[in-house]
Amino acid sequence: MTSPDVTDLLKSPPPRTAREAATAETLVGLPMPRDPELVTDASRRLKVTRQRGRRFPFPVPNGWFIVAQADDLAPGETRALYLFAKDLVLYRTASGEPRLVDAHCPHLGAHLGVGGKVEGECLRCPFHGWSFGPDGQCVDIPYSDSDHIPSKAHARSYPTIERNKMIWAWHHAEEAEPFYDVPEVEEFSDPEWTDIDCREFEIAIACQEMAENNVDFAHFRYVHGTDAIPEDEFYVDGTYKRTIGNDGNFVREGYGLGLGVLRIKGWVTFLSSTTPIDEENVLVRWVFTAPKANGEQSVKEAADAFCGGVSQDIPIWENKIYRPRPVLTKSEKDILEHRRWSRQFYSGYDPAGEAEVMED
Ligand code: FES
Ligand SMILES: [Fe+2]
Repeated sequence: MTSPDVTDLLKSPPPRTAREAATAETLVGLPMPRDPELVTDASRRLKVTRQRGRRFPFPVPNGWFIVAQADDLAPGETRALYLFAKDLVLYRTASGEPRLVDAHCPHLGAHLGVGGKVEGECLRCPFHGWSFGPDGQCVDIPYSDSDHIPSKAHARSYPTIERNKMIWAWHHAEEAEPFYDVPEVEEFSDPEWTDIDCREFEIAIACQEMAENNVDFAHFRYVHGTDAIPEDEFYVDGTYKRTIGNDGNFVREGYGLGLGVLRIKGWVTFLSSTTPIDEENVLVRWVFTAPKANGEQSVKEAADAFCGGVSQDIPIWENKIYRPRPVLTKSEKDILEHRRWSRQFYSGYDPAGEAEVMED
């Protein structure tokens, strides 16, 4: 028997699942249907784009990203994670500090999250018992005759902070230090505001592409069936962005490609975070709070409303591709502006071939 021709296999896309075949015929937009359950139930998602290869050209961006909810990690606990296109281990030391390191031990490659043990401020590997300090440096080789510990016995560690009831890690492809900060969202600790309602879901999209939605004003009418919020002010300063709209009642602040803070006066404050799982997928966390004066239910209602809205975007995002030289109308120049702004968050991304100015 001859083996199948590999080049033919590469040419032909994978077969559709029955679900894809069925839903392909029934999904009609303008506006897109609202299906809040689709946000957390991946089986309701329609994925019909079948071309091989990457849909988005960007590397994993540099920046602060949420890696866990603070309440989900007690002192002494470890978590195996896959984020930033890497296997990682998050743990909390005995003194309560969250730490994030590359998962595979520099000795012989065991996964530190599979049997690894937190001891005081250190993490001990399950395979041969080497122990790593908070900066990832090996501090103990229990069976070694010598006191010398090779400097290469080092697990890459990532700067971490705990803020807004979340644990954040700084990812930088070249291991540079943080060049912006995560703001404190005061409402989260204000007794006049409800407990947080955190919604967590994955989307097959890149951070930059998801953020482009905010400056894509035309899509509001066609995807969501609503008008875009009229803008009064747009301000950019380095890694920071602010949009004020609706006579000052809507404020959106952006910090890098992973974090937005939205305030809609008298209704809701929410933190919108996207953590890159890899170059083509993000883990979204939306963290809501609302004034208690509106009733305890108000936070859930606001969260449900936004999840209903994003359920209209998801089928578009999960099937779109990135057009480096898009055909745009004059009113869409902010899209090019957003793309230029986004480049500061990449290491080793060559934008050659991207549109720099509006073309005819
Ligand atoms: S693989 Fe970790 S101590 Fe050997
Ligand atoms: Fe949208």
